[in-house]
Amino acid sequence: MPRSLSGRSFLKLLDFTTEEIQYLLELSKQFKNLKLTGTPHKYLEGKNIVLLFEKTSTRTRCSFEVAGHDLGMGVTYLDPQSSQMGHKESIADTARVLGRMYDGIEYRGYDQKIVEELARYAGVPVWNGLTTEFHPTQMLADVLTAYEYFGYYKGLTWVFMGDARNNVANSIMVVCAKLGINYVACGPKENMPDPELVKTCKEIAKKNNCTITLTDDVKKGTKGANIIYTDIWVSMGEPKELWAERIRLLHPYQVNKEVMKNADKDAIFLHCLPSFHDLNTSTGRKIYEEFGLKEMEVTDEVFESAQSKVFDEAENRMHTIKAVMYATLK
Ligand code: CP
Ligand code: NVA
Repeated sequence: MPRSLSGRSFLKLLDFTTEEIQYLLELSKQFKNLKLTGTPHKYLEGKNIVLLFEKTSTRTRCSFEVAGHDLGMGVTYLDPQSSQMGHKESIADTARVLGRMYDGIEYRGYDQKIVEELARYAGVPVWNGLTTEFHPTQMLADVLTAYEYFGYYKGLTWVFMGDARNNVANSIMVVCAKLGINYVACGPKENMPDPELVKTCKEIAKKNNCTITLTDDVKKGTKGANIIYTDIWVSMGEPKELWAERIRLLHPYQVNKEVMKNADKDAIFLHCLPSFHDLNTSTGRKIYEEFGLKEMEVTDEVFESAQSKVFDEAENRMHTIKAVMYATLK
């Protein structure tokens, strides 16, 4: 059992030990069981949390809201237009005000240093709901999904295809190193992760008997893999002018039937979502009109296949976020 996480912030997985991450995963399983059996678990009744979103969200916002209500807490949602943060009030002042009223603060937005500063001044736990650099709550859901499917995670091989230096890819590399999962970043040289972060992860991975590999070779990178993962090619906050270049660079790393065939026969496909796998979104249709692409980072065939566990993964966001809030607020 790790030491108590009570009072801690959840800003990035590098701040947590292997045992602490394992504990959060086990706790998530327990909360999932309580939810699925309809067992009430209002363990944090009387507490209040605030959710600060400077970028849009479906899964993360709803997970924090539902998990907060299930735990018996009051929940306030603030979007960028309805708070003073950043434009009229500094991060430090906002943190000190919210910390007087709330027991916990979730933040989704831009630089990692904003969420770190919030945590420094708030005096209550702060949870990172996605920054430009990291998306740590997503990782717990992703590993839980693999754990449920395979029955274990240590020793698996997890490949991220595409923009291998974005927040999700960075976070997968960290969680794999921490949990003894072999990680492969498969993408163009231009989109490889920060060398400093790679170095840190390789040192952690060595201690946990796993490997970190960077490759631009799809065949070699995905051969025999257990998990094939991808994410959108242009992340929130990046300019839309980047689409042309990203399509050129990342199209060869699209997850399609050939990629899945080259992976292990029992491999699963995961994606944090949202995903551009068809023309049922306005952005997807615009890209189609401009570039003629009907599907982007993953083909519709793979997305809709039996190997795709993306909706189990999305559900697990809620159970894992609940575990993080409970562990840090109890
Ligand atoms: N995966 C994820 O964070 O989804 P949202 O952007 O909808 O929160
Ligand atoms: N990399 C994506 C993840 C969305 C959950 C983004 O930052 O937009």
